[in-house]
Amino acid sequence: MRNLKNILITGGAGFIGSHVVRRFVNNYPGSKIVNLDKLTYAGNLENLTDIENKPNYTFVKGDIVDGAFIDQLFEKHKFDGVIHLAAESHVDRSISNPTEFAMTNVIGTINLLNAAKKHWAGNYENCLFYHVSTDEVYGSLGEEGLFTEYTPYDPRSPYSASKASSDHFVMAYFHTYGLPVVMSNCSNNYGPNHFPEKLIPLAIHNIKEMKPVPVYGKGENVRDWLYVEDHATAIDLAFHNGVLGEKYNVGGNNEWKNIELIHLLCDIMDKKLNRPMGTSASLITFVKDRAGHDLRYAIDSSKIQAELGWKPSLVFERGLAKTVDWYLSNEKWLNDVTSGEYQKYYKGQYEER
Ligand code: NAD
Ligand code: DAU
Repeated sequence: MRNLKNILITGGAGFIGSHVVRRFVNNYPGSKIVNLDKLTYAGNLENLTDIENKPNYTFVKGDIVDGAFIDQLFEKHKFDGVIHLAAESHVDRSISNPTEFAMTNVIGTINLLNAAKKHWAGNYENCLFYHVSTDEVYGSLGEEGLFTEYTPYDPRSPYSASKASSDHFVMAYFHTYGLPVVMSNCSNNYGPNHFPEKLIPLAIHNIKEMKPVPVYGKGENVRDWLYVEDHATAIDLAFHNGVLGEKYNVGGNNEWKNIELIHLLCDIMDKKLNRPMGTSASLITFVKDRAGHDLRYAIDSSKIQAELGWKPSLVFERGLAKTVDWYLSNEKWLNDVTSGEYQKYYKGQYEER
């Protein structure tokens, strides 16, 4: 098992990053954790109030696109480990603004790789660059089959194209310079702190407010959902025990058509809110489909299960009910993130389509 002491986590104020930061700060008190985040609309320090005063935790506000700043940060903190999550992460936003995705997801990743290569030069043995990626790089499946680690890349949205490019750079630095890297490609996450531009938290928010629940197309697209803490566990395992130059697919073995998922969520919400059954489902509204909408994602996670002993811990119905409970008891969090800029985004995305 690797024992790394000065760990940079990028994007730690976001959805998945905040769960990873919390896990590392609490489970590795002998390691210093630096959370670097630009605090875009998706970054929120409220996600981390429970650990912000821990002695092994430091927050730094900054942009991974600024290469000179990243270089100075490596100089100052002498990182021996990087867990790279910072990214523009929403497919719909990538359709409106692909350039921002290329800047953060591609150039930002290259800046981090360059800094690691420079500062670790000659001492690769006790260092690791861990790259967090997505199943979307593999493209879209038909009715059958699963993505394995050997599935050829076939990204189809500006978001997945930028993530695929960053994955290729990470592997290129391994093969060309010997940089110690490990990577994982995960399916759709859900759980607390998920920004309500994504399907599940957006639907929870709208159902709570008795607003229309927008379902793209006919709702027949399929995603493989994983509870966010199970993803954080997978990252922890692969960061400490993953084989250099290898990638690991992570997924919930939990495929749902969007419309079926939304019906399940509506039933849970009716019960939790003591509304007559059917109230929430009456809000379902079919809207114009996403451009280039990938039909189906599904992950074969047998490699990480067999080699690193990882497996998902929660059945979906329980995870979803837990998630709904979190949103209903964290009204301030939801109100804060859905005020201001969010209103403008929502109008452009759903009311002016
Ligand atoms: P998110 O959008 O919730 O968080 C991204 C974080 O990165 C935010 O805190 C944001 O402020 C920060 N950030 C953005 N641009 C930055 C920049 N230029 N410099 C520094 N920080 C910046 O995203 P997420 O859903 O938590 O995803 C995290 C990572 O996991 C991403 O790399 C994403 O591609 C990957 N991933 C996500 C999922 C999923 O279902 N959400 C699944 C698989 C992989
Ligand atoms: O597969 C992993 C990926 O999952 C991550 O890499 C991305 O960062 C993450 O955003 C997610 O991408 P998706 O596009 O699958 O997630 P999203 O929540 O945006 O959409 C899930 C499905 O629901 C998708 O088929 C589109 C549909 N959808 C989405 C929204 C926001 C709707 O029907 N209505 C909506 O309003």
